[in-house]
Amino acid sequence: MINAPRGTNDILPPESAKWNYIESKAKYIFDLYNYDEIRTPIFEYTELFQRGIGEATDIVEKEMYTFEDKSGRSLTLRPEGTASVVRSFLENKIYGKAQPTKYFYIGPMFRYERPQAGRYRQFYQLGVEVFGTQDPMVDAEVIALGMAYMDILGLKDLQLYINSIGCPDCRPQYLETLTEYLNNNKDDLCDDCKNRIDKNPLRVLDCKNDSCQCVIKNAPKIIDHLCEECEVHFNSLQKNLKNINIDYELDPTLVRGLDYYTKTAFEVKYEGLGAQDTIFGGGRYDKLADEIGSKDIPGIGFALGIERLLLTLDKQDIDIPIDKSIDIYLTTIGLKAKNASFELLEKFRKKGIKAEIDYQDRSVGGQMKSADRMNATYTVIIGENELESGKATVRNMKNGEEQEIKLQSIVERIEKMI
Ligand code: HAM
Repeated sequence: MINAPRGTNDILPPESAKWNYIESKAKYIFDLYNYDEIRTPIFEYTELFQRGIGEATDIVEKEMYTFEDKSGRSLTLRPEGTASVVRSFLENKIYGKAQPTKYFYIGPMFRYERPQAGRYRQFYQLGVEVFGTQDPMVDAEVIALGMAYMDILGLKDLQLYINSIGCPDCRPQYLETLTEYLNNNKDDLCDDCKNRIDKNPLRVLDCKNDSCQCVIKNAPKIIDHLCEECEVHFNSLQKNLKNINIDYELDPTLVRGLDYYTKTAFEVKYEGLGAQDTIFGGGRYDKLADEIGSKDIPGIGFALGIERLLLTLDKQDIDIPIDKSIDIYLTTIGLKAKNASFELLEKFRKKGIKAEIDYQDRSVGGQMKSADRMNATYTVIIGENELESGKATVRNMKNGEEQEIKLQSIVERIEKMI
């Protein structure tokens, strides 16, 4: 027996119906906000993620599924969607069209992380990316879209955290101040954070270690060190969020795990999820297109972990309506009737009527049980007698009513009845 690799999941029925449900709700919201679907490859040249996500991030340092193909090129299974979507936007010269461009995507991502509840090695994200506008109102739109999605799924008690992490104009100066502070408090930091001070000091702010938390609490805050442009942008975002009644909390330690962010960063969490409590996160990345393709194109987006969304729905006892029923079950007696019914089966289906038949040579009783299990609205028994008389009894399984219907017109009659 060969099992699935650690950190991956089979999505089986009836669970898969839940996936379809939440994806269809997401597509409804994407369409409402006028976002179009983009599909990019599942693997890319490794360099895209190294440059895009950043060499000093956990993802690039430790978590990528990287391999050489047969011609010796280094490829990587995508650990996230943003870098690929930016690559595609640039490669296909979409910037030449009227902007903004608003995309959504749904698909699997791959990270070599230690698996635990809400954290897997293959997981699914749905996300959006908007290109070509610096307008802080779009930051608010992207957040509003995510919150509207949470709303139509019936989720409650979620917290939206926002922060601004500045831009290449103001961040270096802040990083100097932060580095100095961290060096002064180095003794109280965990070993990982000690190493981060020089490599990626912002990431220290994200550490959950107790003694690091004490240091972080008093650390200089980036929002106190923003340049005027970043400050105006952040204030405007907040005004726009208030305008449309979206509650948020400022979190000066929210820095995100990817290096491409500028200005806005945000996360939506549900405390009840435990350690992996971020349902979705994102932000603005105005320098990423420049990093990948030397083009000055602003962008903003977020991605949501579908597994974490399902866990949240579960924790909040939200039932997902799954329609597990069929319109008609054809119970057959004997091969002749089975052959005739098989023909009928296809006729039903061509009319859009969900029909099923027995392939296991079950007894009539067994077939009726199957019809029950499949939650059939109608059943019909077809044997030699019915073929001879050209009529069969159709039974309404909900109320037990029966009626005789000519086999010749049964498809049209059932079509009218459902
Ligand atoms: P991220 O924070 O790395 O951001 O991932 C977004 C979401 O994906 C997380 O909040 C979480 O729900 C889910 N996720 C991440 N890793 C795992 C995992 N190992 N197992 C299960 N779920 C996971 C990004 O990926 C950015 N590309 C988001 C973005 C889009 N920023 C701008 N545009």
